[in-house]
Amino acid sequence: MHTKAMTFSRHILEEAKVQQDMTAELSSLLMQMGYVGKILSREIARAPLKGRLGLVGETNPTGDAQKKLDVYTNDIMVEAFSETGPVAGLVSEELEELKILSLGREAKYILCTDPLDGSSNTDINAPIGTIFGIYRCSGNNHRELEQNLLNERMKQIAAGYVLYGASTMLVYTCGHGVYGFTLDCDLGEFLLVHENISCPARGHYCSANLGRYHEWSSDIQNFIAHLTVHDPSTRRPYSLRYTGALVADFHRSLLEGGVYFYPPDADHKNGKLRFLYECAPLAFVVEQAGGCASTGTQRLLDLKVELLHQRAPFVIGSTEEVALYEKFLTGGT
Ligand code: AHG
Ligand code: MN
Ligand code: MN
Repeated sequence: MHTKAMTFSRHILEEAKVQQDMTAELSSLLMQMGYVGKILSREIARAPLKGRLGLVGETNPTGDAQKKLDVYTNDIMVEAFSETGPVAGLVSEELEELKILSLGREAKYILCTDPLDGSSNTDINAPIGTIFGIYRCSGNNHRELEQNLLNERMKQIAAGYVLYGASTMLVYTCGHGVYGFTLDCDLGEFLLVHENISCPARGHYCSANLGRYHEWSSDIQNFIAHLTVHDPSTRRPYSLRYTGALVADFHRSLLEGGVYFYPPDADHKNGKLRFLYECAPLAFVVEQAGGCASTGTQRLLDLKVELLHQRAPFVIGSTEEVALYEKFLTGGT
């Protein structure tokens, strides 16, 4: 075994001994997220057998056609965190509004989630994910909680994702490094495999939907032209890797180095990805691993958002590639 027998739950308990901000409430919230990861992993694997593939026939708050699994995974998330105490409110890609889950004394956090990321992959057995960001928030009602979240976003104190791939992995940070756990399905436990993940300063992978190439600005087209020059001394050309699931593509950049980006295009004037539950959680993870996330012109986590489902132009990965992308965008090259 290469896991040091460190389960996700035990890891959280060990962190709680040394990290002041790992409160009892946050520990219990994160452990519940581990439970959700196991349930979703099981249900996603069974979905073809249970008739849970394909479309519902409705659209979500940002206009995407909903898959049955989008709705099902969102329902599981809501149920798992309802009345469990620490989660005051839930913001989900699949819910129009912030949903109040608890207003008790322990309810100190808002959970922002993309329950199923990469849903175009569900019907072809390709990787998908779940993204979560946990924000410390106060408020006694819906309006106060939402205002607190939007006005003081920087209170994100933990974040991570679950990747349903060849195996299921949970990657998380609570602001003290990034840790990756692989699900042992027989044991029903996430076990530590990647300790203190460090994103390489440079990589040679590039992930973006090149089908949109002609809709991108000339700066971004020039960036692509630069990456695809044949120059072995600088390890170019970069290799293209794009699964259509942000979690899966980001995970590659996190572990092996490289860059993922989703800039504005004809259909998405402000980029496609949503700040609170897609960009910001992964930005927190990558920064904790020594990498970078940006809009192309500013640090992603410095962006001020006004709407729950606000989108943002997004570039994330190794520091050198993100810096280079920014340089192309700001006319530095
Ligand atoms: P979601 O399935 O949660 O709507 O997210 C899809 C996102 C992201 O996972 C992926 O990288 C990107 O959208 C794919 O979009 P394109 O098909 O436009 O490339
Ligand atoms: Mn998504
Ligand atoms: Mn989604």
